[in-house]
Amino acid sequence: MTDTLTVDAGGALRAEFHLPGDKSISHRAVMLGAIAAGTTTVAHCLMGDDVRATIGAFRALGVHIDASESGDLSVHGSGPHGLKPALGALDMGNSGTAMRLMCGLLAGCGVPATLTGDASLSRRPMRRVTIPLAAMGAKIETQDDGTPPIEISGGDLHGIDYELPVASAQVKSAVLLAGMRARGTTRVIEPAPTRDHTERMLQSFGIDIQSNGSTIAIKGGQTPQATYIQVPGDISSAAFFMVGAAVVPGSEIKLQNVGVNPTRVGVIEILRRMGADIKVTNERLFGNEPVADITVRGGTLRGIEIPAAAIPSAIDEFPAIFVAAASAHGKTRLRGAAELKVKESDRIEVMATGLRKLGVEVATFDDGIEIVGGSYGGGQVDSGDDHRVAMAFAVSALRASHAISIRGCAPIATSFPSFLKLARDAGLRIRP
Ligand code: S3P
Repeated sequence: MTDTLTVDAGGALRAEFHLPGDKSISHRAVMLGAIAAGTTTVAHCLMGDDVRATIGAFRALGVHIDASESGDLSVHGSGPHGLKPALGALDMGNSGTAMRLMCGLLAGCGVPATLTGDASLSRRPMRRVTIPLAAMGAKIETQDDGTPPIEISGGDLHGIDYELPVASAQVKSAVLLAGMRARGTTRVIEPAPTRDHTERMLQSFGIDIQSNGSTIAIKGGQTPQATYIQVPGDISSAAFFMVGAAVVPGSEIKLQNVGVNPTRVGVIEILRRMGADIKVTNERLFGNEPVADITVRGGTLRGIEIPAAAIPSAIDEFPAIFVAAASAHGKTRLRGAAELKVKESDRIEVMATGLRKLGVEVATFDDGIEIVGGSYGGGQVDSGDDHRVAMAFAVSALRASHAISIRGCAPIATSFPSFLKLARDAGLRIRP
């Protein structure tokens, strides 16, 4: 993919298609499959660069994984004692999920490792995982400023009770994965519900894990048993098409087999509050994960106050939601979302800078943003090398008066390698 994309203004979205596999679920399927007893089959795994980093790391740790380009995987689990120390550092690329969950998993299995990442990941905070893991007895160190590389050098883990200081599924998951192998029981208390894919996936692998209100408890010394995982389509990838269709009258898209786990559907709730016409049909289960078909028809949205309670379940969708806000009538305001500043980019500042370049009136706060919606122009914007910002600005062209050029589109391949093709087929006028 070229790094700069230009998208012509206008058009409408009309399409019916399946999205690639959910990124969060794909990482977890590979990780648990890798340390399970037996061979796990994964269908519709996301073959984006982030999940490839996870697959590559386990191959370096001696796990045999057969993977087709279409995302059919056979993961020949080594069992928790079968991982072999890698010869060099494990490069987790752009993926915070891969790095943070691997910390918990490797610490739990007692495997020494060095975890590195690209420029963006190398700036992201890692003490949020190393602090609880060290409290469990892991020998684990970040750099002095709390960023990667991370060194794991051993430890004999015991269970802890841990109250999460931030609502983070990655931190919760790292502690639970370590707890699965520790002595005694580990309990994690969440300040707000976050995505529960780890809990559901652990149950699919036969692990005893209990949720009671905001507390999740896992017994130590357990070994996952190989299973079959069918990965739902990624609602975070669907979000760009949902927003693109919702803001253009005459658009209609139907997205099939999309994951609609209640901890992930904040984007549906927020867009509906803004007045979007979204239908969720054909609800069913892929294993422990709910999926459905989502139909969105275009119309006119209104600005809203985004409820703080919806933030964790829409955390990755805000770049797309900010584009919906820029296209809506009136003001949209978000507060209480400081976590957006420590994603693949500072998504508050990077989105605000790009939207202002298009002529949108935007104010930022240390934990949020206010966007005055209406009409906007074209111009050149920069994604901050953030995949979701790049895709959000690509769909923003549907409502722009002139073409939009976006620098920093190469990282789209981390989460959505087929974005360009699907977007063009649906009606987005991306120039060759
Ligand atoms: C993820 C959790 C979220 C999300 C990320 C994927 C996961 O991060 O932003 O893209 O798979 O657990 P936090 O746990 O930092 O909120």
